[in-house]
Amino acid sequence: MSDSTERSITVKIPHVPVVDRFPFPFQEDSYRYSNNARALRSGKVIQITPDYHEEIRKKRKLLLEKPNLAYQSFSHSMEAQWEILELLMNELVSVYPSYFSLQKRGDHILFYNHLLDEKETFTFGDKESLACEPLDFIGRHVQEDLIYLGQRDGDLYMDAGQLCFPANWSIAFDLGMSYLEFHSPVPHFSESGLAAKVRNFLLQMEVGKPFTRYNWTITLDPILETFPETYDEWGKKKYELTPEKVGEMVHLRVEDQRLTRLPLSNGILFSIHTDLISMKDLIKKSEWSERFEKVLVDLPDYMAEYKGFSTYKEQITNYLKSVNTTTK
Ligand code: HEM
Repeated sequence: MSDSTERSITVKIPHVPVVDRFPFPFQEDSYRYSNNARALRSGKVIQITPDYHEEIRKKRKLLLEKPNLAYQSFSHSMEAQWEILELLMNELVSVYPSYFSLQKRGDHILFYNHLLDEKETFTFGDKESLACEPLDFIGRHVQEDLIYLGQRDGDLYMDAGQLCFPANWSIAFDLGMSYLEFHSPVPHFSESGLAAKVRNFLLQMEVGKPFTRYNWTITLDPILETFPETYDEWGKKKYELTPEKVGEMVHLRVEDQRLTRLPLSNGILFSIHTDLISMKDLIKKSEWSERFEKVLVDLPDYMAEYKGFSTYKEQITNYLKSVNTTTK
């Protein structure tokens, strides 16, 4: 066994302020739905950020207290789940060798998470040797939500997923749906034919050529777990918002969504890494603050409605406008 696998001290993630690492999603002053997927140059699925410990704690708590909201799967996804576990475990140890290490003796696996000071032992392919399903297991070590899409009969189906930080959609509701079915609530996306075009693009994705795209919305307070099933807990926040609270309460929420073709199952791994930034932090970069104001002013009502902030959009634009005119 190598020294690195035996280390028992926990290692630290360097602190980087959110404003220096936030994936600001807008390239222009206007935003419309489009196939905004671009080649993922790094080819990697996972990003470890300074929020790691807090987000893993939240994830595990949700999986314990609301297991059916945060995890769903079909039994026919099991082989693909092992494939995803192996892919991500190998990526973690190669990209973050000081945070994770691995020892394999045949199918016997020793996986070390030095960030959490945890050692996991299991037999690859033997479900009974893990405390939970393979996708659920590896999802408990990474900040990303992990969705598995099976590809068959010329379509993509939601076959499994660990979804702890949904932007108001439900894996319990969507499990088993096809790509067009689970996108059906998105206004204009299906009717315009864009959803079908994107699906055809995804069906042709090749092994070794992953893609990434940003999605965004707005959340009040830094709440990652916006499940539709718990709307009564977080949905009422909009009644607390006042002009004085915009800087603290309003958060731009960005999802870095990555799409990876899986060679064995021929399915797709859809990973979602979510970051939040408060308006108070966002305005530290005047180019972000100015651009976000323009994007919001230009945004069609149906999008603000769908994303859930139409009732307080004006409060945000007023806030940004006053900041942007003062700093000019
Ligand atoms: C293949 C993996 C994907 C999965 C599993 C997925 C899943 C979802 C889900 C569940 C929603 C929420 C729908 C609801 O309101 O219930 C959504 C929204 C959306 N998806 Fe996808 N999606 C995928 C890929 C893509 C791609 C490649 C695009 C490219 C255009 C896309 C575009 C959108 C858009 C525009 C929305 C609306 C988001 C918003 O306005 O906040 N999706 N997606």
